[in-house]
Amino acid sequence: MNISVIGCGYLGAVHAASMAELGHHVVGIDTDPWKVESLSAGKAPFFEPGLPELLTSAGETGRLKFSPNIKEAADATVHFLCVGTPQKPGENAADMQFVEAGFTSLLSIVKPGDVIVGKSTVPVGTAEHLAERLALAEPEATLIWNPEFLREGFAVQDTLHPDRLVYGIDESPRAEAAIAALDGVYAAILADDTPRLIMDPAPAQLVKVAANSFLATKISFINAMAELCERTGADVTLLADAIGMDDRIGRKFLNAGLGFGGGCLPKDIRAFMARAGELGADQTLSFLAEVDAINTRRRVRTVDLAREELGGSLHGRKVTVLGAAFKPNSDDIRDSPALNVAEQIRLQGATVTVTDPAALNNARVAYPNLMYVDDLEQALDGAEIVLLLTEWAQFAELDPEYVGGLVSQRVLVDGRNALDPAKWRAAGWQYRALGRH
Ligand code: UDX
Repeated sequence: MNISVIGCGYLGAVHAASMAELGHHVVGIDTDPWKVESLSAGKAPFFEPGLPELLTSAGETGRLKFSPNIKEAADATVHFLCVGTPQKPGENAADMQFVEAGFTSLLSIVKPGDVIVGKSTVPVGTAEHLAERLALAEPEATLIWNPEFLREGFAVQDTLHPDRLVYGIDESPRAEAAIAALDGVYAAILADDTPRLIMDPAPAQLVKVAANSFLATKISFINAMAELCERTGADVTLLADAIGMDDRIGRKFLNAGLGFGGGCLPKDIRAFMARAGELGADQTLSFLAEVDAINTRRRVRTVDLAREELGGSLHGRKVTVLGAAFKPNSDDIRDSPALNVAEQIRLQGATVTVTDPAALNNARVAYPNLMYVDDLEQALDGAEIVLLLTEWAQFAELDPEYVGGLVSQRVLVDGRNALDPAKWRAAGWQYRALGRH
């Protein structure tokens, strides 16, 4: 099939390459010429395991191309809208300018019988508004809302092997043909017995934000337990293991620590609260404000722990932070808890050196006053305290004796509960963690 993908960020680039992998002819459209150039050369503009290989293999077939020009999408019959919906500066609400602009550009090329597929995470009501615009511009085209649930770091796998496909579509004489077109795009995925849920556009738009709000709530729940554990001498990791064995609860997303960041969870819960307010239901989601507050308190607590461990002041101290990305296997630093903590420590007068396997280039631009060192050994050299803030495997597997030989004192804050305290203490380290004694 001939497909276009509008917006080639973390979502769109992976979606475009994955659809080409499934055998379709795909054109990815992005307004950023640097992104288009990089993707056209087969280079991923961001770190995502498996994406470079897909770009190369799909590029070699000639089925995948990228362009800044929307006219290149004119031959496609299914158009995926994959642009970002970041948080508006100074507000909780989502910034819809990219959705509006991407959709406007699509309206200039859409033909009778085409299907526009919304994948961006949007406030509920957006699809209805876009459908009205589409009906005016091209009444013979159809809009389906088909949210994406991919996790960074597993984006290729999540796109090619999703847990479920959700189609949000209004009843209309064209609905059946539009569903058949999207089924055609996803034929290989559906052949794997992937569940496909067809519903109205409203629940389809809510699925994504509801799922992300649930995940954020789960993380903040265990982090609230961590706050209590800190006051009672309990170990939150044991608590999580024990409650997680109840399969109604489950152990996933119960890792206590520095909390959630990234381009999705924080802005999605805020946008959801803003939208609920607009719908006259602000009390309904007020618990998400608490989820957000618990999450940001963990960052402050981590800074406090580091200061306590250094005897009450961070001024003039040499601090090494392991991790800059908001989570491992990503170079994404959007709302990164690690960088937020590193910057707070710097503002309290410490010299902060940050190392990360993938995110340093992005971090340098966003936090120019921190020091960045690529080499792990060099980054640890002479540190008075080490903070593990993103649990990359290479950090979690560090040998306490080896690291002890590099630092000037063996003091550690494990912000992700990623290390074995007994092992580090046995090697003479002063070990502190969130929710653990
Ligand atoms: C999330 C959703 O998982 C995904 O389904 C959706 O499509 C986009 O948003 P992502 O932002 O890539 O994906 O990251 P995720 O793996 O969910 O982690 C989010 C944050 O929560 C990270 O900062 C991570 O470190 C943190 N986290 C996760 C915890 O603090 N504890 C946990 O137990 C799990």
